[in-house]
This record gives sequence, structure tokens and C-alpha cells, in this order.
Amino acid sequence: MRKKISIIGAGFVGSTTAHWCAAAELGDIVLVDIVEGVPQGKGLDLYEAAPIMGYDARVIGTNSYADTAGSDVIVVTSGAPRKPGMSREDLIKINAEITRSCVSQSAPLSPNAVIIVVNNPLDAMTYVAAEASGFPKARVMGQAGVLDSARYRTFIAMETGVSVEDIQAMLMGGHGDEMVPLPRFSTIGGIPVSEFIAKDRLDAIVDRARKGGGEIVNLLKTGSAYFAPAAATTQMIEAVIKDKKRVIPVAAYLDGEYGLHDMYFGVPVILGAGGIEKIIELPLNAEELALVKQSADAVRNTLTTLKAL
Ligand code: LAC
Repeated sequence: MRKKISIIGAGFVGSTTAHWCAAAELGDIVLVDIVEGVPQGKGLDLYEAAPIMGYDARVIGTNSYADTAGSDVIVVTSGAPRKPGMSREDLIKINAEITRSCVSQSAPLSPNAVIIVVNNPLDAMTYVAAEASGFPKARVMGQAGVLDSARYRTFIAMETGVSVEDIQAMLMGGHGDEMVPLPRFSTIGGIPVSEFIAKDRLDAIVDRARKGGGEIVNLLKTGSAYFAPAAATTQMIEAVIKDKKRVIPVAAYLDGEYGLHDMYFGVPVILGAGGIEKIIELPLNAEELALVKQSADAVRNTLTTLKAL
């Protein structure tokens, strides 16, 4: 039987994720949105592309959560995007309500699903989703690190002119401008990235990666990025559906790891059918730990604001 992937939110991130999941034949897809006609239209349109592209994936769009029942993966993309001048944190109130509503309606119908949250502010919204679902924390996670490290890898490729495929780059922290790209854990073809790029250039790349989301918002002016966020989400869905045991950065619930408690935060994990199967604790040095702490403080502040709402 095919796997079932429900994507809540038929905006740019949701529909692009549906597109890539269908093209990769990861499963049948249910696209849900409150706007009447839009998920139905996008779903049908994507289904009608199947004979040409040659994928066997049934795609439907709906306004009803009943159609999501029995999903293997639920993706929450339904949050409002930011506009120029806004931080991800500015979205907290509206997106907390949206996230809570989407998850509390979908989770009970798919009690064994893995939930992947994409709404911003990411780490806090994943916390909201975990609470609203009541699921074990290993089956609720946020998509951010794959996107952020993809941006970092792209900038390394631009700088060096080598294949993006050979660039591996780990990154930690919350999905905010304090995120922590880790040059010491970044390689090109297994060779430390510092062998290819001088420190000042690497520092500039790290800085650009941290602000990568804002760079796209400032260019688009009417919303935020969606191709790379959708690609990152699709990679996580694939890891779960195919039980791939990918080692990737994911917003995971921390209960003492890295000295952090009761929060979602970007860390390297092993991602498979069970969701987060292991959190990997990197041997960070003092400088890296200080940056991680800064990022954790920012996420903690957002959580405090959230809890005070
Ligand atoms: C970004 C937004 C989606 O980083 O958070 O592009």
C-alpha cells in the first residue's frame, strides 16, 4: 500500500512540497487548506501532470481534515509568511493559533504519523505542535536545519565552484539569525572546508547563511522562500517514508542534550521511520558552545513570549 502524506497549507511551500513528493513517488498526497477551491485546484492540477511526468501518486486537495485520516506523515505549512522588515518572531501570535488548530484537527485522525512543522517562528511552532498533538516528542519535529544548511552549502559551492553534491555542512541552533553554521563540521569531498576557503570568506558565508531567509524575503517583498524550504521538507519526508536513517539537522525536542531542556532546537539527528531515532551530541568547542547558547537564548525568549500570550 502506498504511504499517505498530508500537507496542511496549500500555499507556496505546501504546494511545492506536494509537487516534489509526487515527483519522487513518496506516496499519495492530501493537500489541505481552509480556502475553498485552492487545495482542490492545485491538487487536481498536480494529479493531471502525472501522466506527463510519469509519477504514480494520487493527489487530492480538500478543505476537510477527514481526508487526512491514516496519514504516515503530516506536514504543517499553513502559517503566515513574513514580509520585509519582519522577523520570524513577529509571526508568533497568528501562527501559534493556526498551528494549534491544524494539529489538533489532524493528529487524532493519524495517531501514528510523524509531524513535520514548517511554520515560523519554527522552533516555537514545533513546540506548539507537540503540545497540540500529544504525540511522543520523537514523532514531532521542525524543518529548518536542512534548509539552513542547504543555503550554507550553496554559498560554499558558489565560492569554490565545486559540485554542491560534494559539500556536506552541519549546522545547529534555532531557525533565526542566531543559527550556528559549523565550519569545523563542514567538508568538501570529506576534506575540511577550511582547506578550500580562507577564514574571512568563510565568516562571510556563515553570516550570509544565517540571514539567508531574510535575503529571499527582501527580494520577493510579498512573502518568503519556498523552493528550498519545500525541498528541505521533502528530504525529511523521504527520510521518514523510506526509513533512510539520514543524519541531518532537525528541530528536535531536547531534554538535557547540549544542556538544554524542554525546548525544540536544531540539532543533528538520525531520521527514520520512527521519526527522530537519535539525537547526536557533537563535541563542540567553547566558541561553538557559546554560539549555540546564544541561539538557544533567542529560542527560549520566543517560547517565553509564546507562553505569555
Ligand atoms: C526561510 C523561512 C521560510 O528561512 O523561514 O526562508
